[in-house]
Amino acid sequence: MVGANGQLGSEINVLSPLYPQYEFVFLSEANLSILDFDAVRSVFKVTKPDYLINCAAYTAVDKAEADREIALKVNAEAVSYIAVLCEEYKTGFIHISTDYVFDGNASVPYKPDDITNPQSVYGDTKLAGERLAFRNNPSTILIRTAWVYSEFGHNFVKTMIRLMKEREEIKVVNDQVGTPTYAADLADAIMKIISSEKWVPGIYHFSNAGIISWYDFALAIKEETGSNCRVLPVPTSQYPTSAKRPAFSVLDTSKISVTYSLQITNWRGSLLKCLKRLTTLLPQHED
Ligand SMILES: NC(=O)c1ccc[n+]([C@@H]2O[C@H](COP(=O)([O-])OP(=O)(O)OC[C@H]3O[C@@H](n4cnc5c(N)ncnc54)[C@H](OP(=O)(O)O)[C@@H]3O)[C@@H](O)[C@H]2O)c1
Repeated sequence: MVGANGQLGSEINVLSPLYPQYEFVFLSEANLSILDFDAVRSVFKVTKPDYLINCAAYTAVDKAEADREIALKVNAEAVSYIAVLCEEYKTGFIHISTDYVFDGNASVPYKPDDITNPQSVYGDTKLAGERLAFRNNPSTILIRTAWVYSEFGHNFVKTMIRLMKEREEIKVVNDQVGTPTYAADLADAIMKIISSEKWVPGIYHFSNAGIISWYDFALAIKEETGSNCRVLPVPTSQYPTSAKRPAFSVLDTSKISVTYSLQITNWRGSLLKCLKRLTTLLPQHED
């Protein structure tokens, strides 16, 4: 796996002892930059992997607006090369993409075959990566996800917990709706796909179930953590960012659920699981 230190990579690492039939190789950016094509080829030559899960990405959505070149390199050019190697070594390529490939103007959940129309540099570079992955390796399994959080790295849940401790009042946008994805649930889905030994190439969508706004998500975090901080809903216009966010980001997860017999769990239960792990099992990971 590449990008092993990110949210998703770390959750797959946590899960890996449950799959003793596989020998995992976790490569973080410090061990292997996916921009170093020679090094990536050497890893394939030495390990001849049965599967490669690409958890590496340039994910700084706002920064990407001014940093298109590097975002394109990580999210598209490197993906293209990994796809070539996966094809050459007959390696099952699992690549991760994003709801930001859509424009967010829909009113029903996005299906994998719906028309893409990214509104940000990040979304644009991820879409370029999707296309190159399939062009070079038609057997790719590509999973788009959204609103990812976990006990690792930086994310909305950890930021809210910190801000709710520091401030008496916070404002959160209530006109962007979507579904959170607990990275541990996505990691579980990926491992179930691999261990099913049923390889059905194509685009899939994965998130938890339910539809909420960021404000609803913040309120749930406040309730579950017992915070006294006031949480106020605001429109996106009051929270300007460099990159445009889709107003509607709900993904239709039925294809992955049917193809791989996956139970898609509700976002609230998964939030609880993550909060529990943050406060009890892994206090050192608090933001
Ligand atoms: N986070 C979200 O809300 C979200 C939403 C939709 C889709 N996704 C997609 O889900 C996937 C996993 O996201 P995530 O939240 O786990 O991301 P993340 O926590 O930002 O992790 C990405 C990882 O990629 C690594 N990376 C960056 N450049 C690299 C390079 N040149 N070589 C090797 N590794 C490199 C980063 O290393 P450093 O830590 O050293 O920078 C980081 O560990 C990504 O494809 C992302 O686009 C994420």
